[in-house]
Amino acid sequence: MDPSCTPLAEFLDPIQGYLDPFEYENLRYRWYLELTLPANWKVAMEAFMDGYHVAATHSQLLPYQGNDYTKSFARGKHSHFGYWGTRDAPGAPSPRLNMPKPADVRPGLVEFFDMMERDFAAIFTDRDAMAAHRLLTETPPTGDTATAFANAVEFGRQAAEAEGAGYPKGLDWEVLDRAGSDWHVFPNSVTLPYWDGAVWYRARPNGDNPDSCIFNIWSLKRYVRGGEPKLQRRVYKDIEGQSFGLIVDQDLANIRRVHKGMKSRGFKYARPNPVQEMETLNFHRVLETFVLGEPRVVVK
Ligand SMILES: [Fe+2]
Repeated sequence: MDPSCTPLAEFLDPIQGYLDPFEYENLRYRWYLELTLPANWKVAMEAFMDGYHVAATHSQLLPYQGNDYTKSFARGKHSHFGYWGTRDAPGAPSPRLNMPKPADVRPGLVEFFDMMERDFAAIFTDRDAMAAHRLLTETPPTGDTATAFANAVEFGRQAAEAEGAGYPKGLDWEVLDRAGSDWHVFPNSVTLPYWDGAVWYRARPNGDNPDSCIFNIWSLKRYVRGGEPKLQRRVYKDIEGQSFGLIVDQDLANIRRVHKGMKSRGFKYARPNPVQEMETLNFHRVLETFVLGEPRVVVK
């Protein structure tokens, strides 16, 4: 322990201003995974630090996820990305597909929530997915993804309050928009917050082995007080042949390929996209400042 370390609140600054309204303290574990991965802890972290990979890694989402173009920003040691300025929320196809936008985006939005629940069961909750189905029977057809998404959120809020799980009081659309979709909490956590739940990733080195890390994925949800499921820590020292649902499996496959690729003679250095991958860029700049005293200069 370092008695003269930076106070936690100071270290986390300015994250609190963005994420406190989500009331993480009122979330509980929905499920808990601990995986020993055959990759460096930084590679594992980076797999969750951009929205840029979704089009290639989770391409099944493209017909429903709206405009998947992201922007990312450093906030001191920490960083975030969001879908700022995109025209379409989930419900419509990604512009990458060049598909016509449907006249009624409600079925696409319901399918988006259903897919996320079936293939991940994190960020959004089972309650959100069920509530979204009310769109089809209780709201008129609409081609406006923002309207459909706002209605889905409202149905989710009603479901959470009807269950007695409560709802974050200080969280509104402005706060949500400001926070964005994904935060890197330097050095080794990433979280994606939502109204009713969140996912949290954490990576730790595995001893002195640079080719292995201990990786956690926690699906968090707002429950009626005391109504959360009994915590079951699912621990896998070897992930070979295991499946953890489509979304996690896809990300893990990426991590293994990236780690392997970094060992290639053809790989000199990474060239992150400065618009969509600022989280990764900032992570390494700050980490190198901690370890080396200053960021490394890349010499071509
Ligand atoms: Fe992913």
